[in-house]
Amino acid sequence: MRKKIAVLPGDGIGPEVTSSALKVLNIIGERFGHEFTYEEGLIGGVAIDQTGNPLPEETVELCKKSDAILLGAVGGPKWDQLPGHQRPEKGLLGLRKALQLFANLRPVTTFSSLTEASTLKSEVIEGVDLMIVRELTGGIYFGEPRERIEKNGEEHAIDTLTYSKSEIERIVRKGFELAQVRNKKVTSVDKANVLESSRLWREVAEEVAKDFPEVSLEHMLVDNCAMQLIRAPKAFDVIVTENMFGDILSDEASMLTGSLGMLPSASLSATCCGLYEPIHGSAPDIAGKGLANPLATISSLSMMLKYEFGLEQEAEVLNEAVNQVLSNGARTADLAKDASHALSTDEMTERVIAALSVTSYT
Ligand SMILES: NC(=O)c1ccc[n+]([C@@H]2O[C@H](COP(=O)([O-])OP(=O)(O)OC[C@H]3O[C@@H](n4cnc5c(N)ncnc54)[C@H](O)[C@@H]3O)[C@@H](O)[C@H]2O)c1
Repeated sequence: MRKKIAVLPGDGIGPEVTSSALKVLNIIGERFGHEFTYEEGLIGGVAIDQTGNPLPEETVELCKKSDAILLGAVGGPKWDQLPGHQRPEKGLLGLRKALQLFANLRPVTTFSSLTEASTLKSEVIEGVDLMIVRELTGGIYFGEPRERIEKNGEEHAIDTLTYSKSEIERIVRKGFELAQVRNKKVTSVDKANVLESSRLWREVAEEVAKDFPEVSLEHMLVDNCAMQLIRAPKAFDVIVTENMFGDILSDEASMLTGSLGMLPSASLSATCCGLYEPIHGSAPDIAGKGLANPLATISSLSMMLKYEFGLEQEAEVLNEAVNQVLSNGARTADLAKDASHALSTDEMTERVIAALSVTSYT
């Protein structure tokens, strides 16, 4: 198989973790006879520095003619003082909109060898395997108007939460499709006791459920879901929810695994290729120090292999290599109990590559 991947390293630790992940992907390509080619593009703060624009048009064009996109992270204190519309995060939001990346998939799987890295009790998190499906191109992050106004002699800020029926339908359907091949349970999360958009969300979820008779549907209020994720995370299979709720719940769920440095994500497009990225940010506190955990980005590649290219076996082999490395005790600083024994980004990458060479596949 031949695939062209647009690589957007971005800011902070982004270049470090994407370069690690590509080394690993090259090995997968060699072992399985695939040819992966890469072309880099600018996004975020580095794009602002070089072009004045967090999402140059060339980057959008590069993504549109690629088979998949690998992104590192954007943002950092250097650009924090810029006005909202010029900030690095605008690059990522713009790309999601331009490519209609409407479905953000965030798997949360705990590794038994890492249960000690979580702040929760091992009996609560051992065996957690859930998928958060977050709507990514609608809701309050995109709704208009968004503005500051003067009212009654006081400054007000306005954000708008709006969803169309079709936007809800396509994301809920994605959640059901995933549940169908997983453990056949969808938890639709909303705030239907307060929000009109959530009441429409519930109605649509009920309609979509009729097409998936084998999958059970439960509705849960977002505040309750935040609590249940910590109390009994094993009760979930697929959680489907709107943009802002999904943003918050998925960061909360990330702590079940012990570190943000472990969690991958995929953003699937309605019209074009998907974008694969770690859920963590640019980690400016450790950028350039060789300390970043590359596993979230490496696992994002595994999602790319599975969801974009249909290469299930290759994805499984990569997951198994990551599993093996962790079982053997390899830890970057974010996971290590004793920082003096922590591996660098490059050392962790080399461990995964070494594990790939001994992982058997038929
Ligand atoms: N998708 C994205 O690009 C994205 C997501 C979140 C935040 N951000 C941006 O990143 C910048 C920093 O944000 P933040 O500090 O809130 O979140 P962050 O995820 O960058 O970092 C939070 C903490 O986790 C640690 N961490 C994160 N990833 C790690 C990794 N791979 N290995 C080891 N440790 C890791 C960091 O060192 C830090 O202590 C901000 O500018 C923010 O806007 C970008």
